[in-house]
Amino acid sequence: MALERTFAIVKPDAVKDGHVGEILTTIEQSGLKIVGLKRTRLTAALCKGFYHEHVGKGFYADLEAFMTEGPVVLMVLEGENAILRWRDLMGATDPAKATEGTLRKRFGTSIGRNATHGSDKPESAAFEVSYFFNAFEQV
Ligand code: RTP
Ligand code: MG
Repeated sequence: MALERTFAIVKPDAVKDGHVGEILTTIEQSGLKIVGLKRTRLTAALCKGFYHEHVGKGFYADLEAFMTEGPVVLMVLEGENAILRWRDLMGATDPAKATEGTLRKRFGTSIGRNATHGSDKPESAAFEVSYFFNAFEQV
């Protein structure tokens, strides 16, 4: 096992619905440590840079409209195998297919409005963390 950092977002739907506290509690109770935390609102340009692998795909316009519609909460999470553990806590991309008790099952309403984001591999985590957080903001 390796001590890892991963990047997480509470997406605009879950912020608007008042689920930030429950999501942070779920993270802390899982043993993952929140080492970086901020609330902001993405611009279209920030979203394009962040989701660069999806720009040009059929769902990208909807994804950008959703991710910029309201405030988000951005986090850096740390722990042993943090990348996979955070993906497991979130559940499947489509809330309808997510395991009972996962965050996307609890708070997501569709594949496009699925409450949380998590990095999918070490290279993405490194990019995504550094895209939003400097060294002084993740301690
Ligand atoms: P995320 O990056 O947000 O953590 O989600 P993910 O890895 O589980 O899924 P990914 O394939 O990276 O897709 C990014 C986000 O785009 C939206 N999406 N919509 N309508 C569609 O077919 C579709 N496919 C993906 C989802 O909101 C997904 O979280
Ligand atoms: Mg992804």
